[in-house]
Amino acid sequence: MSRRDYLKLLGAGAAAAALPPAEARAQSNPPPVPQESAEVKADRERRMKWWHEAKFGMFIHWGLYSVLGRHEWVQEMEGIHADEYLKLAKEFRPKPNAAREWAQLAKRAGQRYMVMTTKHHEGFCLFDTKTTDFCAPKQGPGRDLVREYVEAARAEGLRVGFYYSLMDWHHPDGARCASDEAARRRFVDYIHTHLRELLTNYGKVDVLWYDVSWPLDAKGWESEKMNEMVFRLQPDIIVNNRNKLAGDFSTPEQQITATEVGRAWESCMTMNDSWGYHRADDGWKQPRQIIRNLITCAHDGGNYLLNIGPKADGSVPLESIAILGAVGRWTARNGSFSRRGHTLYFHVHYWPGGDGLAFAGLQTKVKSARLLATNRPVRFEQDEYRVRFLRLPVRAPDTPVTTIALECESEPRQDELFVRRRERGQV
Ligand code: GLC
Repeated sequence: MSRRDYLKLLGAGAAAAALPPAEARAQSNPPPVPQESAEVKADRERRMKWWHEAKFGMFIHWGLYSVLGRHEWVQEMEGIHADEYLKLAKEFRPKPNAAREWAQLAKRAGQRYMVMTTKHHEGFCLFDTKTTDFCAPKQGPGRDLVREYVEAARAEGLRVGFYYSLMDWHHPDGARCASDEAARRRFVDYIHTHLRELLTNYGKVDVLWYDVSWPLDAKGWESEKMNEMVFRLQPDIIVNNRNKLAGDFSTPEQQITATEVGRAWESCMTMNDSWGYHRADDGWKQPRQIIRNLITCAHDGGNYLLNIGPKADGSVPLESIAILGAVGRWTARNGSFSRRGHTLYFHVHYWPGGDGLAFAGLQTKVKSARLLATNRPVRFEQDEYRVRFLRLPVRAPDTPVTTIALECESEPRQDELFVRRRERGQV
């Protein structure tokens, strides 16, 4: 069944908002992780060190679909004919250096890296390319939007990531490549050339974020060769797992799921229900939810890549600005750590006040405790089962989540089952 048939079957148009695209769902079957040598693992550890420390990044979905403002899959969902869609390329006229606003916003929110769509499924290249006229410098924008983005991110000291969709609705061979070898050859050369351009013309790139590999498999995409070229051009880069190879990290989408032990992962998520700008989508998450998600990711050893969908002129929806502002005020006080060295950061989502706060199973001794927001010491008592906080202020000292920092004697570890095992005489 083709992608189009599949969508038709599901009644694509009406279901657009609620339905995760077929390809996106296929991501829940990530490629298997191969056995690797110690050398390969050590190299990955080296390349990924900054990323693990960064924890929080900004995803940016921006392209011709932003002109229509009805989701980044609008072309497919509404069955817009290619000729009609082409006209958007002339109408797309962003203000100069819009990316500076995004980078400043990211910085203030506590995000340390950015990942922008250099080409989404629609096939429009936001970068300069020799391969097609369907690119920003030769259309409405009249300039290289990837260059502006890279410069804006670097100016704020943020790491630079490139999202790149392998699937391409614009290229005439984008679907035909699955059944016609000559078409596959042309199309795969086209895609590899884009990647070469992206990783040659913009200096150091920190993340390559592949997306949707429909309709080919790893062999069809020549993914091994693809990654080899990527690492030859950018020896420090990290790559995700969406070109049908395991890459350096997994990409749970719109959900937080830690993968196998020892495997890096990054949860990507929208702030409402669309990646691209959607003027009618008002399903905004509360800052409290976003902070909780960030804490959950950090706690489980993952990263959180939170999306904005700028409008066609490059301005960010006010709701996103407000949410990121609230998140930033919180991360400025709290950071995004759940543990650092011997310090444990205990996040209290619902503040009980008084003597009503405790947690189980800490396997080390607490030396001192303080409220992170005010630096005030917190009284506590500890026995082998629990740490219990005493005489807490009635009102939560921070909003929407209060953090208590616990200085411990050794690296903090929690074992919630300890109590039960001890009572059964198993410890
Ligand atoms: C899915 C969607 C795509 C979006 C991506 C982000 O693959 O098809 O629109 O860019 O998820 O992870």
